[in-house]
Amino acid sequence: MKSTLSLLACLLTGASATIYYAGVAESGGEFGVYSSTATPGFGLPGTFGVDYQFINQAGVDVHVDQNHLNLFRIAFLLERMCPVATGLGASFNETHFDLFKDAVDYVTVTKGAYAILDPHNYMRYNDPSSQPYSGSVIGNTSDVTAATTAQFGEFWGELAGRFADNEKVIFGLMNEPHDMPSSLVLENNQAAIDAIRATGAENLIIMPGNSWTGGHAWTEGTDPSSAVMYQFKDPVNNTALDIHEYLDVDFSGGHSECVSAPETYLANLTEWLKTYQLKAFITEFGGANNTGCAAMLTDMVDYMADNEEYIGWTAWAAGPFWGASSPCCTDSLQLGSLEPGSTAADGSPGLYTTVWLETLQPLVPSLLQWSGGASVAGGELVAFSG
Ligand SMILES: *[C@@H]1O[C@H](CO)[C@@H](O)[C@H](O)[C@H]1NC(C)=O
Ligand SMILES: *[C@@H]1O[C@H](CO)[C@@H](O)[C@H](O)[C@H]1NC(C)=O
Ligand SMILES: *[C@@H]1O[C@H](CO)[C@@H](O)[C@H](O)[C@H]1NC(C)=O
Ligand SMILES: *[C@@H]1O[C@H](CO)[C@@H](O)[C@H](O)[C@H]1NC(C)=O
Ligand SMILES: *[C@@H]1O[C@H](CO)[C@@H](O)[C@H](O)[C@H]1NC(C)=O
Repeated sequence: MKSTLSLLACLLTGASATIYYAGVAESGGEFGVYSSTATPGFGLPGTFGVDYQFINQAGVDVHVDQNHLNLFRIAFLLERMCPVATGLGASFNETHFDLFKDAVDYVTVTKGAYAILDPHNYMRYNDPSSQPYSGSVIGNTSDVTAATTAQFGEFWGELAGRFADNEKVIFGLMNEPHDMPSSLVLENNQAAIDAIRATGAENLIIMPGNSWTGGHAWTEGTDPSSAVMYQFKDPVNNTALDIHEYLDVDFSGGHSECVSAPETYLANLTEWLKTYQLKAFITEFGGANNTGCAAMLTDMVDYMADNEEYIGWTAWAAGPFWGASSPCCTDSLQLGSLEPGSTAADGSPGLYTTVWLETLQPLVPSLLQWSGGASVAGGELVAFSG
């Protein structure tokens, strides 16, 4: 009887029992290498606040204080954190690190939300000038210019050590590995996990698969993520999968029509997660301003809420530089970002107004985790209290 009543209460409030973390990706830290001609060469290191920037504090304020979001995924570039001259590893550009840490501390300490650290590098390092394709694949032993798997581990060990005492920081190992062996994605992920745990950090880790870490592609093709990714080992059992899933015809997020239903294209991944008793975050998904996308974005968030394998999500994208200059968008129905106050290039309301406030904001669970460490088991769900 008691359980029937609490199930009913759950249905009545519409609150999800399984989503602990919800928010937006913050795009900006990865900018200035391919979309800007202001800086010669690779756009490295670039000028902070001009070519790239991690967050706008005012935007984060609105998303936390008014929209009650508790998760922000903050992008940065490996080549700025670890300049190419010194290589990938434990030697950081301290000026750049301090700027990044300011953003992470603002989200986690000042606002009390959770932050995913997002090296936006496609498992490549040394030339981000034509991302997502340029640069040597990390761990490619046939490429003498490639950073090694061990160097990737050293990098994560150093970064994790610096945030080990902040339980609101989540380590997102890598954005969208692609066009490489799945076994190498796993090997690099494992090197990072080992190095992170060697520092004593028990923070939640989210790790990607291959094929742009696409949910729809998880079990597909001759070298699917599903065949190897379950083999990772985390001594503290606090690693989840990091999945991206766009709803357009080729799952790229580059088309304005949403036609790929999440309940269809995530079913195989969900089954796989169940089999291995793993949890997942979907840290990129999105849609344009049209009725088809409004319906399918709703299906997407509902699907995650209904399947206990999914515990968190961030929609693409808010942030200082996403929007009018984004490569996805071609007209005023699509332009703009999920950044509060932003508009489309022609001055009309942007996606914050037309998609976030209209469709996604009403689907943000009223109860989320606001204290304690981020974990595959989630934490206490409470209403936002400021
Ligand atoms: C380190 O970062 C700062 C801040 O962006 C930049 O001014 C400086 O040139 C960078 N140094 C190197 C070696 O990349
Ligand atoms: C590894 O490097 C070799 C030599 O440059 C190249 O032919 C090969 O395509 C690279 N592999 C990947 C997965 O990028
Ligand atoms: C992690 O999970 C494994 C498999 O369920 C279990 O044997 C092990 O005791 C767990 N370790 C910790 C630290 O919880
Ligand atoms: C799910 O997996 C089955 C079995 O491999 C496959 O036939 C089917 O096409 C997959 N579904 C989707 C939507 O990719
Ligand atoms: C969003 O889409 C709807 C439906 O097509 C349209 O009526 C509305 O004008 C659009 N909003 C903006 C700000 O373009």
